[in-house]
Amino acid sequence: MRVIITESADHVAHIAADCVCEALAPGQDCVLGLATGSTPVRLYGELIRRHHAGAVSFARATSFNLDEYVGLAPDHPQSYRAFMNRELFDHVDIDPSRTHVPDGLADPADEAQRYEQAISDAGGIDLQVLGIGRNGHIGFNEPTSSLASRTRLKTLTPSTIEANSRFFGPGETPPRLAITMGIGTILDARRVLLLATGRAKAPAVRNAVEGPLSAMVPASALQWHNDAVILVDRDAASLLQQVEYYEHVENEARRLAAEQCHG
Ligand code: GLP
Repeated sequence: MRVIITESADHVAHIAADCVCEALAPGQDCVLGLATGSTPVRLYGELIRRHHAGAVSFARATSFNLDEYVGLAPDHPQSYRAFMNRELFDHVDIDPSRTHVPDGLADPADEAQRYEQAISDAGGIDLQVLGIGRNGHIGFNEPTSSLASRTRLKTLTPSTIEANSRFFGPGETPPRLAITMGIGTILDARRVLLLATGRAKAPAVRNAVEGPLSAMVPASALQWHNDAVILVDRDAASLLQQVEYYEHVENEARRLAAEQCHG
């Protein structure tokens, strides 16, 4: 795992945008795995800014989102499809027919199978962007999810329902079920980029990076991935024990890159 600690949430967005732009390099097709939640919103804002500045194009990109609430129509304002249209797709040159979000109204078992097949038909995911839940979940893989799980129906924990209920109006019942890529699906991505900002995420980040590999902390499965980048601000990193080492590794990488640059 590569752990990058930055000074602020804006820096997280900036470095994450660099990674996404690298994956979207001109002249190549790219399959992006995308996430919802408040954390990647700054990243999407930065990508839109770079797109408008002519620095990046999504013309050859295909995307697959991690998850969707069961029972929400794509045009429900709190559906993850509506979120993605609003926060990214409507503002860049991605072909809408190549953006994929699970269908929350379809039969979940059929939809899960269809989604896995679509990812595979697209050649697999090149770069998967992830947030992390306060209980360590990724996508909607709640604690005790199988580390080998594939896209499927998941029952949300009361704490996740509570955390996400802030997005729903008074009198609206927040969804209790979701279709989510599995942990095994996520681990199949060629590169994984997990973003976390703020002190509320510090325990989950510590458990994911420095705790044991455990189904109780779904994000700890990234310890098993050979190209996982954990990109955090100081607050989210505040409970990590090996901060000095992570910073040393990044300094060394910069020093080596500078040496190579100067021949
Ligand atoms: C939801 C999403 C996750 C996301 C998490 C954290 O549960 N399914 O993909 O990582 O929320 O969201 P936030 O970034 O708002 O803390």
